Formats: sequence, C-alpha cells, structure tokens
Amino acid sequence: MISAKGSVILKEMDKIVVLDSGGQYCHLIARKVRELGVYADIKPIDTDPAELAGYCAIILSGGPSSVFADDAPGPQDGLFAIERPMLGICYGHQLLARGFGGTVTPGKTQELGPADLQIASSTPLFAGLGESEPVWMNHGDWVSEVPPGFRVIGMTDDCPVGAMGDDARKLYGLQFHPEVIHTPRGKQMLENFVAHISRCATDWHPEDRVQQVEAQIRDEVGDRKVLFFLSGGVDSTVAYALTVQALGAEHVHGVYVDTGFMRAHETDEIEHNFARLDLGTFETLDASDRFFGALEGVTEPERKRKIIGQLFVDVQNDVVARGDFVGHDWMLGQGTIYPDRIESGGTSQAAVIKTHHNRVAGIEELIAQGRVLEPLGEFYKDEVRALGRALGLSANLLERHPFPGPALAIRCLCAAEEAAPHADAEIESAARAEGYEALLLPVRSVGVHGDARSYAELTLFTQGPLDYDRVLGPANRITNQFRRTNRVALVVGSDAPVDATWRIHNATLTRDRVRLLQRADDVVSRFLHEHEIYHDVWQCPVVLLPFGKNGGETIALRPITSVDGMTAQVARLPADRVTDLAKRILAVDGIEAVLYDVSHKPPSTIEWE
Ligand code: XMP
Repeated sequence: MISAKGSVILKEMDKIVVLDSGGQYCHLIARKVRELGVYADIKPIDTDPAELAGYCAIILSGGPSSVFADDAPGPQDGLFAIERPMLGICYGHQLLARGFGGTVTPGKTQELGPADLQIASSTPLFAGLGESEPVWMNHGDWVSEVPPGFRVIGMTDDCPVGAMGDDARKLYGLQFHPEVIHTPRGKQMLENFVAHISRCATDWHPEDRVQQVEAQIRDEVGDRKVLFFLSGGVDSTVAYALTVQALGAEHVHGVYVDTGFMRAHETDEIEHNFARLDLGTFETLDASDRFFGALEGVTEPERKRKIIGQLFVDVQNDVVARGDFVGHDWMLGQGTIYPDRIESGGTSQAAVIKTHHNRVAGIEELIAQGRVLEPLGEFYKDEVRALGRALGLSANLLERHPFPGPALAIRCLCAAEEAAPHADAEIESAARAEGYEALLLPVRSVGVHGDARSYAELTLFTQGPLDYDRVLGPANRITNQFRRTNRVALVVGSDAPVDATWRIHNATLTRDRVRLLQRADDVVSRFLHEHEIYHDVWQCPVVLLPFGKNGGETIALRPITSVDGMTAQVARLPADRVTDLAKRILAVDGIEAVLYDVSHKPPSTIEWE
C-alpha cells in the first residue's frame, strides 16, 4: 500500500521504475509491466538516482517535449551511471542516446503513425519476433548516431535508428511506442526486457495482496476510526470492503451521498450489495435538494460540472466537520487509485489533466496531518477488480461500465432558448453520397479536435439505415472535415419523421427530466443484460436532449468499445436489436425520438458534455 503521504511499503518484491517525462504514456507502460507480473512504480524523470537503487530495472518513458527545448525534462546527473538494465522509449530513447554519448538531431517534421520496423540483428530484446514488425511512431527529433558500445537493432523507412541496444550492458532504446495497441508485438518486447533481460521475478498478482493490504490498513489506522464516502463505484466499494474486513464494521462509517443524479435503483443496489457481504451499515445522505437547487436555471455544461464538483466538496466538508468526525480519532478513507494520484500532479512531469476530487484543498490538509487512508493507492483499475473478486464482491458490481462522478447530470443536456435545426449544403452533400439525409442541430457537445477540446453542433442523419459499413464512412468524413460539427447521430426510431419542423426547446436540469432519463437509462441497461450484450460494450451513455416535435425529448445512445476510455470506437450493436431497443425507449412517455451516436473518439468524446 502507498499511504496518502506517498511512502512505498512494498519492499520485498522485484520492482521496475518507469521514469516519467510528461504525457500519459507512463501509465500504459506501468500497467503493461504489471500485467506481466512485475510491480511498476512511476517516478519523475528527475528523481534522485539514489532513490532508484531498489529497482531491478529502469524504463524511461516517452513525453511530449523536444530534448532541445530549454525546459526539456531530464534526469539528474548520475542516472546513467547506475548499473541497471535500462529501456528508453521515444523521448526516453533520445535521453538514453544522449546520456551515453550518442547524437540526437532535431526533426524537421513529425513522424506520426504506423511504420514497419526492420529488425537489423538478433538481440534478446526482439526474441520471438519476426524480421519485420508493425510499430507506432510519434516523434520529431531522432537519434542520428548511437552511443559507443550500442548498435542499431531496428530501423524504419523514415527512422534509421528505430531501435538501438547494448546487449552486454542491457541498455536499449526504442524510438517507437511498444506500450500502445498499435504496436501488436510490443508486449513481447516489454516481456523480453522485464522478465528475460532484467530477470525480474514475475510474482506480482494483486489478488494475493488482500491480507497484506489489510495488515497495512491496521498498521496505519491503529485505534482510530475511518469515515468513507461511498459512490457505489468499484473503487470506493473495494476500499471500504477491505477496510471493514481489516478493522471490523464497528470501526468504519460509510456515507453515501445521493445527489439525485444517480441511476434508477442505484441506492437500493448498493444497500443490497453491502448487506449481502455483511459490510455493516452505511448512512445515506439525501443531498438532492441542494444539488437541484444549485443547478436551477443553469444550462452551460462547464458551469454545471463546476457547480456539481464544488457541491460535492461542500457536502463532504459538512459531514467531516460534523461533531462526530472531528478530532484525531478519525481518518478519512478514500478509494483513490494509482492513476488518480499521478494525474493530479503526483509526479512533477505529468500534465495536470483535472484536479481529482480526492485531491482538493481540504483533503490535502488532512493528508498533511496523516489522516487520510487510501488502501488502493498503488493499484490500477483492473487490479482493484481482482482484489474485489478475491473479497467476494459480486461480478455485477465489479464489471459495471464506468460511470462518471457527476452522473446523469452531464447526460441531461440543457438549452437556454428554443432553436431549429438547419440545413448545411456541404454536410448534406457528404451524407447524401452514402444515402443519408442530414440536418445540423444547434445543440453543442464536446469533442477533441487535435489536442484541444471543441464545442460544436450535432449532425443528425435523419434518414438512412443503421448499416455500420455505410454510415461510419460519411460520419467520419464529416466530423474530420467540418469544424462546425464534431458528432454525428443517426435517428433509429421516432414517433414522427424527424425534420426541420422539430425544435430544441428551453430546458434545465429538473427532477422530472432526470426521472425521464433514469427511466430510459434503465430500459437500456435491462436490454443490454437481457440480450447478453452488456459486456460487448465498454460503456453506453444514454443522453437526454430537449429536442422534439411536440415538446417532448430525444434519447441518444452512445455505445462504444474502448480499452481505457482515452480513445473509443462506435460499438456495432446488431441493427435489429437496436430497432427493438428504440421501440422500448419510445414507449417511455415523453420520448419522441431515439438516436445512435456514430462518431468515434476522437474527434468526439464519449460523454456529450
Ligand atoms: P470523455 O467524455 O472525456 O470520457 O471521452 C472518458 C471517460 O471519462 C468518464 N468521464 C468522467 N468521469 N467525472 C468522472 O468521474 C467526469 O467529470 C467525467 N467526464 C467523463 C466518461 O464516462 C468516460 O468513461
């Protein structure tokens, strides 16, 4: 376990360290290494080399910088004097080349995308691979001269030093990314490095760690008590269950905050799960009046999010400040997992993506006082699931689709004023080429164009079949070509033909609208389970849009497949099933149309807000 203060308490195993130079690649690398059975930590690239003595090998990750930039992240002196196996990846490959006396040359252009790596000579790093392997490149600068003692072990058409190595000293550099799925044999390369070259014992199995984590909880908590906020999600439930098992239910108090935006039956399900596992009782705090009150009249998506985030903190602070939890007899338990800590700036290089709600100011203060317990602080999501299985939590709970913190509030779109769909000649023509009719709907949703977020209008294919081979082509072209739209959805069912007479109408976040969305969302969940397609999709947001012919609403389905949510593909649910599902949704009073989102991420995001 890593205590909230950050001390690693895993000493007895072989471990790898991934040195982080920014970007998010380091998590992919660490996760892949752990899947191979070796525990991996992430530390900033400029970590004092003395701190790295306990690791059996070092991986230098990629990062967005150029080694020529003034503020380029780099190691402290002495890193390259550590006699450990090292693997540099992308930017890390260039750092390694420079560190050992090679030359890096600034790139004039960026090489981005797939390439074929020609394996130049036999090396343990590429054991078991073919003569040529597809790899994923993303770099500008390149290594033009390998350091003394190294040789070129792989090249691509555009990159003469695609890979380099010094087998005797066990030092390797790869210009491409072995950790991404676009390098299909990348895992074999990592396995060669970790298990065979570095000879790390592959004995990291998170499910075997239950007793150790429980012992550490007892150690850290002593005779104090622990207060937990439960969300019904996997992380907080597993953290709570471990703590109850470690300390006994009488030493743990759970509070479940009902915001009013939970899914139908959510609260009952959580209560049922806890009762079944004999996890003691928890308190349900109905804060829905506060949430709905604060969001009255608000239509702008970012404002909705901010209000919800702040209110969460306020409600939690109020509970923490309640007489019964004040004082040093209490700790706050949290389900924070490894990437939550790192994303929040836990290492100096990781770009801060969003301040995680487990790291807001009040909580940082408690952490400084040693009053925060994070039993899952060193685990990734799939590892938390393995722990949950070992504890006996139901598969239903552990394998649930990810669900956002702000819950249905960000799936209930609002509009400040009435608006009509409009025609767009270029988009119409691109759609018609494949037999679809298109309209632009002035409802803006989030997308990602390049590195930036975009808010743009929705393209509605009002007519045409749900034939994925036909519809995905024009949907892709339209979102890539025209910046005024970032999402395409196809009408898959409606009470009347959807046309320019339909209207977006003024709508805010009300109990009635959330209730309507809960009903539609429940229909979708049941349908996916009933037809055993729940596990074929990674997530299936159900979104409510204030769009109708007679003042009613529209439901958009957003089933996607994904590995980690960073990118996502449209899930291809069988068209006849979708038609049946649309009929069931239309039977909900107040719903006039059903859409199927046919946009990949990027350029769209998974959630619409
Ligand atoms: P996007 O919409 O960014 O979503 O493609 C990627 C993943 O993140 C989830 N998500 C959130 N989770 N709070 C959360 O806890 C949020 O504000 C939030 N926004 C998006 C989303 O459900 C998907 O799994």
